[in-house]
Amino acid sequence: MSVDVLINNVTKRYGDFTAIEDMSFKINKGEFFTLLGPSGCGKTTLLRMIAGFNTIEGGDILFDTTNINKLPAHKRDIGMVFQNYAIFPHLSTYDNVAYGLKARKVPKDEAHKRIMDALKVVQIEQLKDRMPHELSGGQQQRVALARAIVIEPKILLMDEPLSNLDAKLRVQMRSTIKKLQSKLGITTIYVTHDQEEALAISDRIAVMNLGKVMQIGSPDEVYRRPSNDFVADFIGTSNFLEGKIISSENGSMIIDVMDYQFTVQFDKNHQGDVLLSVRPEHFFFSEESKGIKGEIILSTFLGDFINYEIQLPNGDILEVNEYTEKVGKIRNNGPVTLQINEKSVSIFTRDGKERLVR
Ligand SMILES: Nc1ncnc2c1ncn2[C@@H]1O[C@H](COP(=O)(O)OP(=O)(O)O)[C@@H](O)[C@H]1O
Ligand SMILES: [Mg+2]
Repeated sequence: MSVDVLINNVTKRYGDFTAIEDMSFKINKGEFFTLLGPSGCGKTTLLRMIAGFNTIEGGDILFDTTNINKLPAHKRDIGMVFQNYAIFPHLSTYDNVAYGLKARKVPKDEAHKRIMDALKVVQIEQLKDRMPHELSGGQQQRVALARAIVIEPKILLMDEPLSNLDAKLRVQMRSTIKKLQSKLGITTIYVTHDQEEALAISDRIAVMNLGKVMQIGSPDEVYRRPSNDFVADFIGTSNFLEGKIISSENGSMIIDVMDYQFTVQFDKNHQGDVLLSVRPEHFFFSEESKGIKGEIILSTFLGDFINYEIQLPNGDILEVNEYTEKVGKIRNNGPVTLQINEKSVSIFTRDGKERLVR
C-alpha cells in the first residue's frame, strides 16, 4: 500500500541557519519523485524529515491524510537506501534482508518466502549466503535494496544510492531500480545531485537550490521548459545570451541578439532586456547572412553528434551540437553563422528569475 506524501509549508532550522524554507509540494501515490540539486541545497535534510530522523521546525508532513510530524521513525513504514549501503557487516545477505522482518516479528515461513522473493527481484538469490565483504559494491547495494523493499514499506527513500558505484554499474543499477519501482508501485523519493541520473530515472523532479524548490516537473519539462536560469544552467547544457525585445504585438515579439532578429510567441507582452538560454542542439548553422556571427575554434567528435566551441566577437564561447548524420562530416575551424530554433529557446527576464515564453 503506497501513499501520497504532502509537504506543507515545511521549514527546517539548524540553529540560526534555515536549511529548508517554507517548502510545499505533493508527491503522488506510486510516483518516482526525485530531489535534485547541488550539494548542500537541503536534499538529505528534507529526506530525513520525511523519514523521521530530523525535527520539523514549521509546517506539516502528511502520508495520505495522516500527519506524521510527531510519529517516531520506526512507525512510519519506510524503506531506506543510503549512499554507503549501510548493510550489517557481520550478517550474510540473507540475514541482512531478514533483519527488518525479525524486528517486525513476521512468522518464519512467511519471512523466508518474502526474503527469497526480495532477493529474486534484485537478482542476488545466488548470493544469499555470502558475507558483505565477499560482495562487490553493486551487489551490496542490491542487498540494501532488498532489505528496504522486503518490509513492503509505504514509501521508499533513497539518498544518493548509486554515487559510490562506477559509471557503468551506476547506469545498470539505475535501470534496475526504475524497473523495480514501477513493478512494485511504491511511492519513491530519490535524492541525487546528478542531473543526468535524475532525468533518466524520475517521473517528476523537484529542482532545489539553497533550501528552496526552483521548479517541479517531468524530466521533459525541466529540460525543455526551465522556469528560471538556475534550472536551465543546472540541467543539461545552456548557452546564455543577452537580448532585447524590440517589438511586441499580439503575443508575437521580435528579439534582438547581437543584431540577429527572430520572432517568438509570448504568453503576455513584455518590454526591454531579456536573457536567453539556448541548448547546444537548438542552434543551427546557416548559409544566410542573417544570424549570430562566430568562429569555430574546436570541434569534438562524439559519435552520434559533433560538439563545436564557437567564439563570439566579444570573446564568449557557445556550445553547439550538430548530428553527425545531418552533414556527414566535421566542419572546419573558421567563421560561421548561427541561427536559433525559435520554438525551443528559453527566454527569461534579464535577471533570469522569470520565464517569459511557454
Ligand atoms: N546537523 C546539521 N547541523 C547544522 N547544519 C547542517 C546539519 N545537517 C546539514 N546541515 C546544513 O544544511 C544544509 C543542507 O545540507 P544537506 O541537507 O545535507 O544537503 P544536501 O543533501 O542537499 O547535500 C547544508 O548547508 C548543511 O551544511
Ligand atoms: Mg545529501
